[in-house]
Amino acid sequence: MLDQLGREINYLRISVTDRCNLRCRYCMPPEGISLKEHRDILSFEEIEKVVRIGAELGITKIRLTGGEPLIRRNLADLVYAISRIDGIDDVAITTNGILFPGLAAELKEAGLKRVNISLDTLQKDRYHYITRGGDITAAFNALETALAEGLEPVKVNTVLINGFNDDEILDFCRLAFERPLHIRFIEFMPVGEIKYWHCKSIIKNSDVFDIISKHYVLKPGKISRGSGPAKYFVLDGGRGSVGFISPMSNHFCSECNRLRLTADGKLRACLYGGKERDLKEALRNNLPDEEIRRIFVETVLSKPERHTMGDKPWGTRDRKMYQIGG
Ligand code: GTP
Ligand code: 5AD
Ligand code: SF4
Repeated sequence: MLDQLGREINYLRISVTDRCNLRCRYCMPPEGISLKEHRDILSFEEIEKVVRIGAELGITKIRLTGGEPLIRRNLADLVYAISRIDGIDDVAITTNGILFPGLAAELKEAGLKRVNISLDTLQKDRYHYITRGGDITAAFNALETALAEGLEPVKVNTVLINGFNDDEILDFCRLAFERPLHIRFIEFMPVGEIKYWHCKSIIKNSDVFDIISKHYVLKPGKISRGSGPAKYFVLDGGRGSVGFISPMSNHFCSECNRLRLTADGKLRACLYGGKERDLKEALRNNLPDEEIRRIFVETVLSKPERHTMGDKPWGTRDRKMYQIGG
């Protein structure tokens, strides 16, 4: 599928739930969120059908997201079903990792190829603070389990926030030097709990690059699997790499290859905007596959040229990050 600007769309990010077992300060309010009812959430059969039709149209990569995808019961069944669909060659998840050690083996057996794990700090107390109660040992276990299971490349998502974890950039680099992990520094976006976000909290990735360059020789690198916006650099002599995801300072929308499906069955053209189209209604009304195809094509054709996250007023968009899956 090509959009109006000639971008090839082959990647579908599917949020399987808007619930989460953590409460990261920049993502969710302390009191929690108004959750979708079970009946509002697409069933595995419905998701499978969407993926099958998407694959016929050229989708080859699927990423399962949340909220926290691993709290959806029997997720391995979904992984199994979609990895067997003709045309799908990559099934991955983005997770906070807390439940991952107990599920990794069955997910891999089901066809999961790889995992991206969110970890914003390497310090126990800070992790407890930013996630409002999370145990960093579980997140570390997730990294080691992913490596042990060979779910490679194992990527880490680190949102850098000025005044919170900016003093840990080199600690993360040391981790990437010592372990075969790919640490991606993500610029803080105004997409979640906007009361926590502030434009002064953004750390530009060009500044992060300069800090790292003073201590490591960075060589442009490529990761064997990946279809996202990160730009990677190998740390000379080290085992892993660092990557930069820079939506705020250097938007990568001209290379965008993705659509998003929300847990409640809306197809979205962009993380931060664009009209949503309702697949759930089409599925539940048993409309013919042709109708689902039409919704895919319309959504692709409506993809905006770029996001407008840098424009004021910030954070005024329709949905929060946990409702879209990043
Ligand atoms: P791979 O490269 O395939 O491993 O995946 P990815 O990096 O696209 O996925 P992941 O879910 O780990 O995303 C990492 C970060 O990039 C998250 O903070 C996402 O919100 C952000 N991100 C992913 N896709 C987009 C996008 O299209 N636009 C913007 N602005 N941010 C994105
Ligand atoms: N800015 C940047 N990244 C974010 N994430 C969640 N909220 C934000 C934000 N406001 C990241 C999470 C997770 C991924 C799905 O999105 O840390 O790694
Ligand atoms: Fe959960 Fe991810 Fe939001 Fe943290 S950022 S509360 S792990 S959905």
